[in-house]
Amino acid sequence: MGYGTWGKKYESNIALIDSQHQILFNIINNLFDAMKFGKGDEVIGEILNELISYTDYHFNAEENLMKENQYVNLDSHLKAHKEFVQKVLFFYQRYITGESALSIDIIDFLKNWLISHILTMDLEFTKTIKADTN
Ligand SMILES: [Fe+2]
Repeated sequence: MGYGTWGKKYESNIALIDSQHQILFNIINNLFDAMKFGKGDEVIGEILNELISYTDYHFNAEENLMKENQYVNLDSHLKAHKEFVQKVLFFYQRYITGESALSIDIIDFLKNWLISHILTMDLEFTKTIKADTN
């Protein structure tokens, strides 16, 4: 059992999106474990980097799907993604420059953001899209 555990309540009707969300949970769990077991800066930096690049990849996939389907709330969803990207980059910069260590509060923020974003905005958009479009 991980720190952030994937569950049925996060499932949408789109397998591709669900598997990407599970990968995001895994990355956040890896970050939590790395902090808990006192892993070095290099390991934590790598996981943060992975979070940044995978988030970018995943948000692009979602945004393309929304655009292809002329999703009505595209703008607010894009805005939410952008704000999250900026937050993660901010944490990363502060970590890399040594300005601020990674804390449980930051990892909790990442996990809680992911959970609430999936349960609200993602499930709202996925239900408007047919299951066989991916
Ligand atoms: Fe999203």
